Amino acid sequence: MKGNIAYLNPEKKLVSNCVDSVQAYSPVCSRDKIKETGEFKEGNITPLKLDWNESTIPPSPAVKEAIQDALEKDMNLLNWYPELYSKKLASHLAIYSGRSVNEILVTNGSDDALELICKVFLDPGDHVLVPYPTYTHFVTYVQSRGAVLKKVETPDPFKPDITSIINNVTPETKLVYIVNPNNPTGVLISRKQIKTLCSIVKDAVILVDEAYFEFSEKTVADLIETYPNLIVTRTLSKAWALAGLRVGYLVTNHLTVKELSKVLNPKSVSTLAQVAASAALGDIEYMKRYVREVEASKIILLDYFRKKNITAYDSAANYIMVQHPKLELLLKEMENEYIFVRDRSSFKNLPGFFRITIGNNWQTEELVSRLERVLNRI
Ligand SMILES: Cc1ncc(COP(=O)(O)O)c(C=O)c1O
Repeated sequence: MKGNIAYLNPEKKLVSNCVDSVQAYSPVCSRDKIKETGEFKEGNITPLKLDWNESTIPPSPAVKEAIQDALEKDMNLLNWYPELYSKKLASHLAIYSGRSVNEILVTNGSDDALELICKVFLDPGDHVLVPYPTYTHFVTYVQSRGAVLKKVETPDPFKPDITSIINNVTPETKLVYIVNPNNPTGVLISRKQIKTLCSIVKDAVILVDEAYFEFSEKTVADLIETYPNLIVTRTLSKAWALAGLRVGYLVTNHLTVKELSKVLNPKSVSTLAQVAASAALGDIEYMKRYVREVEASKIILLDYFRKKNITAYDSAANYIMVQHPKLELLLKEMENEYIFVRDRSSFKNLPGFFRITIGNNWQTEELVSRLERVLNRI
């Protein structure tokens, strides 16, 4: 029951009013299902986990080597707290992003960066503008601050419309959240449009989530020089294949970094995560090779769906959106072939849609042959 935490204290409401009204984030992930069934090894069939846009392959071998090496050589690797503010890693990320180290903050996954930004900028009652559909976990952080989410919905979610975002800005707007390329649609808002947004909306934070930057190869991180209200978040969970270790970062004006640092937990990124991330960044070619394979696979998959007369949208990220009139049946049959994707049809303007992560060459070949069996059955 809302507001009732009688199991803690029936006399006094202990949970904050803001948290009371949060709609719980209820992630649906195939991981447990896959683990429970012993990785489906019995029939020699590998599960295709294509529901959370993670990398479908392990990180560069340099990552494992660096972890093993650190474990062997550093006696205090595990008993000491990690390096505060992940300083060494921050300097690698600064080089990678073409920014100064005082414009970077390393976080425990980019979710942590999103939460930090909400903590620092939002007060109860503030408005947050979000083109919808979006990455829904962010909504939880907004609501937990007592801020109000203002959805900007366009008739066609695959046609981004910066004008309607700008038109919805009011004096109460404190923050605008743009996922670029967007999750789940994969749509990319152009640099020109983001520039327009930043130059018109000067008195709100413009937060651009570039979780899929390595796939789109489009960034606005350099625009922090021109727009002090711009913050860009990124992650090593996708193209860099480190989702299990939790490393993200943000790029913004050095003064904003100072403000955010006041409440950032400087030891929130584990030592192993820092070691792994630095090693991954040292093998950029490995990441780029994977991105190229994903790009090639995307073309194959889009072509396959086109030939089957199934609507599928191209995207600037490592996933595509697909629409099918018999979605429920299709997803069930796909699971029977150990293909796990994300049902996105609960978004009002995405009826019959699922999102599928794109893998590498052999995974795509395998996927297409399994899809062929599925489509023949339904
Ligand atoms: C748009 C977007 N932002 C942030 C995240 C969270 O990433 P991280 O693993 O860095 O917390 C995701 C994960 O799916 C995402 O899609």
